[in-house]
Amino acid sequence: MKIRLGIFISGGGSNMQSIAKACQQDSFPAQVSLVLSNTPDAKGLQLAKQLGLKTAIVDHQNFSNRKDFEQEIQKHLVKAEIELVCLAGFMRILSPFLVEKWQDKMLNIHPSLLPKFRGLNTHKRALNANEKTHGCSVHFVTVGLDEGPVIAQSTIQILADDTIQTLQARVLIAEHILYPQTIKQLCQQL
Ligand code: GAR
Repeated sequence: MKIRLGIFISGGGSNMQSIAKACQQDSFPAQVSLVLSNTPDAKGLQLAKQLGLKTAIVDHQNFSNRKDFEQEIQKHLVKAEIELVCLAGFMRILSPFLVEKWQDKMLNIHPSLLPKFRGLNTHKRALNANEKTHGCSVHFVTVGLDEGPVIAQSTIQILADDTIQTLQARVLIAEHILYPQTIKQLCQQL
């Protein structure tokens, strides 16, 4: 039986797409059972529909507090019988209410070599810090922002003429390889 993935997005959804494509292989140990977005107009929702995936929108703006928002998310996860949650460009901070329910069962991909550059604007910060290397990390989600145990990383060289945009584009390519690979390894252990 394939592990049932729930993928959370907020925007472009390119990581969701790379995971979904990997899941199309018979030998891949997981399937995408739900793509959930907190933004109704996320481009990734269209991509998910084109891929024939089940989607849900839980718009944070419709909730007066975080717990109600997360309770609604949890309902969708239970209904879709999700076993592993993958945050993929999901730009809301989750509270202990949801994070603790999904301890060791919720992953995130972050565009930096953690523990460097937690939070936002990671490419700009890596350039400003004159780093020689940069990359992405897949980690378990814990209550601290981008602080959970790192499972896997992919490193790229920073080139002399790199800009935020060129760096972002190369890191994203690395993410598209690293995330499905890491999910595969983890699911094989579950
Ligand atoms: C990715 O680079 C991902 O690592 C980053 O947002 C981008 C989403 O792209 N995530 C974060 O910054 C989370 N804090 P995508 O929507 O095309 O997958």
